Amino acid sequence: MTEWTKSGWRAKPRVQMPDYTDTDRLEAVEAQLAKYPPLVFAGEARRLQRELGAAGRGEAFLLQGGDCAESFDQFSANAIRDTFKVMLQMAMVLTFGAKVPVVKVGRMAGQFAKPRSAPTETVNGQELPSYRGDIINELPFTAKARIPDPAKMLQAYTQAAATLNLLRAFSTGGYADVHKVHQWTLGFTEGEKAAKYREMAGRISDTLDFMKAAGVDSDRAHTLQTVDFFTSHESLLLEYEEALTRQDSTSGKWLAGSGHMIWIGDRTRQPDGAHVEFARGVLNPVGLKCGPTTTAEDLKVLMSRLNPENEEGKLTLIARFGAGKVGEHLPRLVKAVAEEGANVTWVCDPMHGNTIKSSTGYKTRPFDAVLREVKEFFAVHNAEGTVPGGVHFEMTGQDVTECTGGVRAVSEEDLSARYHTACDPRLNASQSLELAFLVAEELTARREAQGEVKAG
Ligand code: PEP
Ligand code: CO
Repeated sequence: MTEWTKSGWRAKPRVQMPDYTDTDRLEAVEAQLAKYPPLVFAGEARRLQRELGAAGRGEAFLLQGGDCAESFDQFSANAIRDTFKVMLQMAMVLTFGAKVPVVKVGRMAGQFAKPRSAPTETVNGQELPSYRGDIINELPFTAKARIPDPAKMLQAYTQAAATLNLLRAFSTGGYADVHKVHQWTLGFTEGEKAAKYREMAGRISDTLDFMKAAGVDSDRAHTLQTVDFFTSHESLLLEYEEALTRQDSTSGKWLAGSGHMIWIGDRTRQPDGAHVEFARGVLNPVGLKCGPTTTAEDLKVLMSRLNPENEEGKLTLIARFGAGKVGEHLPRLVKAVAEEGANVTWVCDPMHGNTIKSSTGYKTRPFDAVLREVKEFFAVHNAEGTVPGGVHFEMTGQDVTECTGGVRAVSEEDLSARYHTACDPRLNASQSLELAFLVAEELTARREAQGEVKAG
């Protein structure tokens, strides 16, 4: 491999990136971004890597979620707060229910660029470039809206910085204090799982009261009052990524300063392509989406490029095959990892292999397919003796109707009621909570099975 530089990707074949026509403007924006402060710091990225390493060994569990695409329009403090609340609730279900530490990573503060299945979109005979996320162009179906505009990178940076600022305040300023476990519920979450959550929260409060009465809450109180919350996004728009890349003064290594973790999408993981080239040189933990077309050979090359030193927690493999297909694809990749003796953290994305078009014309995901894919993911790891290290999902704290099913059954006819996503359909708060309970059950069953084996 040739020596890595932050602009080395420019010499490689690129896909899914816009062709900016105004190159002077592009260069001016890149120069401006290059002067701005990084959004995250090397020490934080290293801490996340350690935690992801623990998830890869089965000693922690990754919860990675947020919008499919963050949008400029729907940006608000309440939306960030509500997504954060749902993540805290889900984490609590796993920590208390499955007794596992949870690594919390938002698809937030940078998730603006989208790969698309087709470069253009045709409506009533008119063909226009596809919408590629708010950092690139605009959603309305007009020729002007679809022109890529480099200045949008500056707005994305500003929004990401403001989002991260709020997340940092929520994480450490008292909001995430476990004593507030009852207050994380959202008004509209009801039904069986919400009641189960309230019951669990009651038991947590009792435990905290007991600890206080017994005098054991004081010296470790900080651990219960704050939370580590990290950010992540798809590293797709490489001009933006490069402009925010900084050299870490302590190690001399390079940090993608746009977020704690970056990932490579299923459409941009060409081993000799621009996206892999960029990601191979940064010190951040890197995710790699693995879909039905990922071959064992490709995976072996990608693992050696993206994690040449075979560090724990450096590479997270995000499996996204679709319900009914995990058994067909995951085993060959799990075997490839074993053959290489590679350290990876396996994570299940039960969203992107389960997107369908509803009879009412909306892009949706049946919630039962989402749950089935998670179960299949656990079943393969249980059978192979490997570790299911986390889940990656698209959700929002808003009361949307984008995925069908769930305890408050959303029907195909209901989709139009509150369908707000800028891209893929997201789980709403009740569906997310239901997913967390399912994962907690799977993890508990695993622990019990392992306990039995050890005891026997
Ligand atoms: C996504 O995570 O929004 C996405 C586009 O995923 P994938 O690359 O797996 O299709
Ligand atoms: Co998506």
